Amino acid sequence: MPNYRRMRILVVGSGGREHALCWKLAQEAEVICAPGNAGIAEVADTVNIPTNNFHSLLNLIKEREVDLVVVGPEDPLVTGLADAIREAGVLCFGPGQAAAQLEGSKAFCKAMMQRAGVPTADYRVFIDADAAKSYASTKYAEGTKLAIKASGNALGKGVIVAESLQEAEEGIDTLKALGEAGKTLVLEEKLEGKEFSLLTITNGLDIFSLPVAQDYKRIFDGDQGPNTGGMGTFSPVEWVTPEIVAQTERETVLPILKTLREDGIEYRGVLFSGLMQTSSGPKCLEYNVRFGDPETQSVLSRLGRGFADALRACAAGEPIPEIELYEHAAVTVVAASAGYPGEYEKGKLIAIEPTEESVHIFHAGTKLNNGQLESNGGRVLAVTATAPTQQEARTKAYEALKQIHFDGMQARSDIGA
Ligand code: AMP
Ligand code: GLY
Repeated sequence: MPNYRRMRILVVGSGGREHALCWKLAQEAEVICAPGNAGIAEVADTVNIPTNNFHSLLNLIKEREVDLVVVGPEDPLVTGLADAIREAGVLCFGPGQAAAQLEGSKAFCKAMMQRAGVPTADYRVFIDADAAKSYASTKYAEGTKLAIKASGNALGKGVIVAESLQEAEEGIDTLKALGEAGKTLVLEEKLEGKEFSLLTITNGLDIFSLPVAQDYKRIFDGDQGPNTGGMGTFSPVEWVTPEIVAQTERETVLPILKTLREDGIEYRGVLFSGLMQTSSGPKCLEYNVRFGDPETQSVLSRLGRGFADALRACAAGEPIPEIELYEHAAVTVVAASAGYPGEYEKGKLIAIEPTEESVHIFHAGTKLNNGQLESNGGRVLAVTATAPTQQEARTKAYEALKQIHFDGMQARSDIGA
């Protein structure tokens, strides 16, 4: 990179996670985002190229002399965007297609976990629905409950935790009906415990874990209703001790990176481990190959200087420099469209009152229509507040949420409670 100008970063994506990434990176670099959204346009130069148009993205990278690309969502990673960028000689923060299968295929992910000796739920893989049902009937007869998972990407709708054999059988049919995503099913033992998310940035060998976050996956208060992409998060998570983090790094993060290296794959990006703290320690439910949404909004709000340099170093395969961490707490509450995670309407007018400096309104699904802000997705906004304690951050986030209005807006009222 020429030393007479700031680092120029392209962020790929258009959600709340990408808004948080652009906001944070813009403190240390010049940021371009494709395609972005209305909120991102306030902190970055947005260019309307969809994330699956690799050709146009590569042209943009060349024309704008981009130094580093940070890929937000999993889809372009699973289809090889990071490989294409590296082949063009540009640094990319995000794993290549081979490693991205950790998220793209749950069957592959479980097989890799098993090879690496990562603690995870026992499982079996099925293509045939009847064979899956017969296995489920044996398990429920033994008193073991199952989580039924579509192996492919089902946009957050691919996991059914079945309390009864009947629910398991229905779940198998539901996931099979998804088509390609449900072609292969993973049936795994249901684990009991509290969940947490660990986002670890890596150059393939060295790791640096960002502060732990806790996500709220269900749509309604009290963890009721269907799963969503995530309705809120907070960080830090007091009950996840430094010992639990160290154990997770040792048993879940490092072994999978080592197993990938044995296959000639150097993972340069963020490895998001979805974990459950069971009576026998942390077990890995899944890996994602990208930052979490809305974990990122809370986690990045707790970082000081050094984030952009750390991502660049990971992408370059260099030692990871320190990132400054703040002690304060962050709470993020998502405002979603009526009907989400099912069918929802777009194009609702959004009114936002200005808020104080320690509150950030990250845009998840918004666009400007003739200068007017409108909803443009299932999750519309993510309100992140920081304060010395979680309780104060929670109060501030909900105060700010009261200043936001759009038709049918829904949010959980128990985030961080
Ligand atoms: P996943 O996409 O695999 O993380 O699953 C989505 C959600 O389903 C997780 O966050 C858990 O709440 C739940 N889940 C997945 N696997 C299991 C399991 N083996 N036992 C209990 N709950 C699970
Ligand atoms: N919030 C969970 C995820 O990003 O997958």
